[in-house]
Amino acid sequence: MKVSVTTIDLHELDVDLILLPVTEDDRDRVVEAVVGDDETGLLAVEDFKGAEDELVTVYLSGFQSRRVTFFGLGSADAVSLESLRKLSAAGAATASRFKVDTVAVGLPETELATEAASQALVEGFVLGSYRFRKYKTDADDGHEVQRLVVHAESNDKPARRGAERGRIVAEAVSTARDLVNLSPNDKTPTLLSKEIERLGKKHGFEVSVWDKALITEEGMGGLLAVNLGSMEPPTFTIMEWQPENAVNAKPIVLVGKGVVFDTGGLSLKPTKDSMDLMKSDMAGAAAVIAAMEAVARLDLPVYVIAMIPATDNRPGENAYVPGDVIKMHSGLTVEVLNTDAEGRMILADALSYAKTYNPKLVVDLATLTGAAVVALGSGVAAVMTNQDDGAPARTDAMVRAGERSGDPVHPLPMFDHYAEQLKSDVADMKNVGGREAGSITAGKFLERFTDYPWIHVDIAGPSFLKSARGYHSVGGTGFGVRLIVEYLREFVALAQK
Ligand code: BES
Ligand code: MN
Ligand code: ZN
Repeated sequence: MKVSVTTIDLHELDVDLILLPVTEDDRDRVVEAVVGDDETGLLAVEDFKGAEDELVTVYLSGFQSRRVTFFGLGSADAVSLESLRKLSAAGAATASRFKVDTVAVGLPETELATEAASQALVEGFVLGSYRFRKYKTDADDGHEVQRLVVHAESNDKPARRGAERGRIVAEAVSTARDLVNLSPNDKTPTLLSKEIERLGKKHGFEVSVWDKALITEEGMGGLLAVNLGSMEPPTFTIMEWQPENAVNAKPIVLVGKGVVFDTGGLSLKPTKDSMDLMKSDMAGAAAVIAAMEAVARLDLPVYVIAMIPATDNRPGENAYVPGDVIKMHSGLTVEVLNTDAEGRMILADALSYAKTYNPKLVVDLATLTGAAVVALGSGVAAVMTNQDDGAPARTDAMVRAGERSGDPVHPLPMFDHYAEQLKSDVADMKNVGGREAGSITAGKFLERFTDYPWIHVDIAGPSFLKSARGYHSVGGTGFGVRLIVEYLREFVALAQK
């Protein structure tokens, strides 16, 4: 979708449909300016008050573009970036109902900064238009808008910056969604790594892929153990974005869980509402890969490394078994008591390897525990961090990034005593901590492999939807991409101050 910004008069705009978000406070002014004394138009908007979720389409003769759809936003001081995204996605649905090719969306009068509002409108529209059609053999039944124009009243500079960022970010989110929605047989670890290499070439970040031999040489015992039951070899992929103007000398390292399919292994999952969702168990990887796409395309002045340990988890003949003790990359030994707690096994090796970069901060994204879904539902991710003096500030920054970005996260505590649930009779630790506080014990497990500032985001809930919600269609949501981009943008802004 092409995205542009214009300040020309609405009446002259040559598009098939104009979307006009209007607040209650601004309703009379907008109606006066747009409808004027067009009698049929005035009748059509008579009952439109600008209340939230109100929607009316009018056909105006004095317009290049005949169709104008008014969207109510409610009270001006209550408008949020998220309400603009949702509204814009509703606009995309309207556009697809009318099967139009070109759409303009007006920037409403609110208390929000123009740049952020413009970004939110574009994001909502592009994300709301997303369809995954790769495996559909019939002719396209949907409709695609070709061009979106953001209409700004006067100064178009901030609107332009926002619209451009909104497009890049939304396209990155779409990349993540595509990866999650891919059929498992199309995303073996090897194929996933090839895709990362392709994206690196396309967007300008470095990629190197380790094969099984290298992974073995490096002693990634966790990743190798999970992979034992699989016919497909594991991969470990490292991405790097190091611009000359980076604000940081020590890198920020991102880690994404890349379990391309999680059967549970010998601790096999039931099919319904469990294993049947597990092509999404690489959603952390997808978010990290797509965040690298966005960082590169936005040309963010920040040094970032990203790592994807990838394998599937299967009950093959050679599969690891409950009771196996595994020597991890860090040297710690882990007693595996449930082969379905595989995510932490592969992440632990990546977190341990991350030490070699002397990182400023490590952030991992992982569909790690069903317990996170129970705790926070399917809209919010759980965030945890290691307990040092910087912990509250790190958590706050991630929560703020969640609020701004539309990828909300909520903190879980990381008190020391939770680690006791991981005590093993035979090894340094167990890979499961029992039923209580399942997301936190997973976090405590990972913490053992870190010796640097670290944030863990458990995205098991919001990474995949069984039914559409807001600007997310069924399937992969791309959760985490916008969260990471916003986190990094603030990191840059604070460093440049
Ligand atoms: N991939 C799952 C977690 C998951 C569950 C993601 C639901 C998305 C939706 C993970 O590998 C897993 O199986 N976790 C186990 C851990 C348990 C065995 C300690 C879980 O949550 O049941
Ligand atoms: Mn599992
Ligand atoms: Zn898993």
